[in-house]
Amino acid sequence: MDSSQDKVVTRGLRDVAAAETKISFVDPMGALYYLGYNIDALVGHVCYEEVVYLLLNGKLPTKNELDQLRGQLISEMQLPEAVINSIKSFPVSSHPMEVLRTEISHLSMYDPDGDSTSEQAISRQAIRLVAKVPAIVAAIHRSRSNQLPVAPNPEIGFSENFLYLFRGKPADSEEKEAIDRYMTLHADHGFNASTFAARVTASTNSDMYSAVTCAVGTLKGPLHGGASEKVMYMLDNINTEEEVEAYIQGMLDDQKKIMGFGHRVYRAEDPRTKHLRELAEDLCRRTNTKNLYKLCVRIENVVHEKKKIFPNVDFYAAVTLNALGVPFQFVTPFFASSRVSGWTAHIMEQYKDAVLLRPTSKYIGEYGRPFIPIEKR
Ligand code: COA
Repeated sequence: MDSSQDKVVTRGLRDVAAAETKISFVDPMGALYYLGYNIDALVGHVCYEEVVYLLLNGKLPTKNELDQLRGQLISEMQLPEAVINSIKSFPVSSHPMEVLRTEISHLSMYDPDGDSTSEQAISRQAIRLVAKVPAIVAAIHRSRSNQLPVAPNPEIGFSENFLYLFRGKPADSEEKEAIDRYMTLHADHGFNASTFAARVTASTNSDMYSAVTCAVGTLKGPLHGGASEKVMYMLDNINTEEEVEAYIQGMLDDQKKIMGFGHRVYRAEDPRTKHLRELAEDLCRRTNTKNLYKLCVRIENVVHEKKKIFPNVDFYAAVTLNALGVPFQFVTPFFASSRVSGWTAHIMEQYKDAVLLRPTSKYIGEYGRPFIPIEKR
């Protein structure tokens, strides 16, 4: 018998390189690259659609290519009637991430490319998913708040359209810039758990909708994208800066994780944090919630003092979205609405790699247990 006990387990797959990728690089020293571009060089200089083009095509678009993609994305924001009706049919107690996960799976039945994995079909499917995931999130919110759906506006950008479909009112210039930067910063992040889940599914040659459905289910967990919603509940539980120290100490004493802090890869500050901190500060100033921003800064200092860990992408992202009028339960769906561009790029790369992702395990159970028939147990 081949001895499985000799196998070395890398707990949590920490530092295991599961495949090669050209899409993004997460530098532990605190940098993030999309296709070789440092995100600091992109944020504020490109629109989210340019990032989508970059991720899906490996290069930045020309003006014509960008206009064409933007047109495609905005027209693909329309949802099949069956999906809209199904959204309305779910219990209001269901979480928007549960509805999103279900509707992405549902959407595949209305895709004219079916479950084809040909290069042209998956490229069309990627554009559809990048457009329709935010549209589903907006439709869930409109339906829950008993508001009529809003049609996309071809005269404005894609991220701005997302906010428009969600809130039903046009964004002003500062909000437009904020949602665009937010989506740019959330577009991709190496082999994070949801991207890896998507790649595992794609590696079986399953269809893109199945892979994105798995990714959404994985993002939902509070150790991953679900942390951003929990950040808002934490902030809601702390009333003043004076309460921060005792609250954080209490969490640590109870061996609880502080949501929105710590990271598997970064050993320095997450490079997305500085951009999101700035957005959160500006938006809180506008919405007269400066105290909320000050509370965040205090939490950041106390957590660093006590644990030497930094805020991750979820901490200030949650506050940014809150200031844009996004309810707590929709913070993680907004993350999914941006990360879908990275997921689809990785799924395409995985199809090209054409290898089944299937690890092994170290078996630590028993061998040769005597079998006892059910009537004698
Ligand atoms: N709150 C309190 N302590 C934390 C922490 C947090 N958010 N994140 C890490 N730590 C602690 C760990 O318990 C560990 O302490 P120890 O050495 O005393 O045991 C130490 O910091 C190092 O942790 P590390 O090994 O780097 O974390 P990980 O790779 O196992 O986990 C996360 C990474 C993201 C799962 C973890 O940081 C976490 O749960 N964060 C909160 C959830 C979150 O914000 N997720 C979004 C990630 S983008």
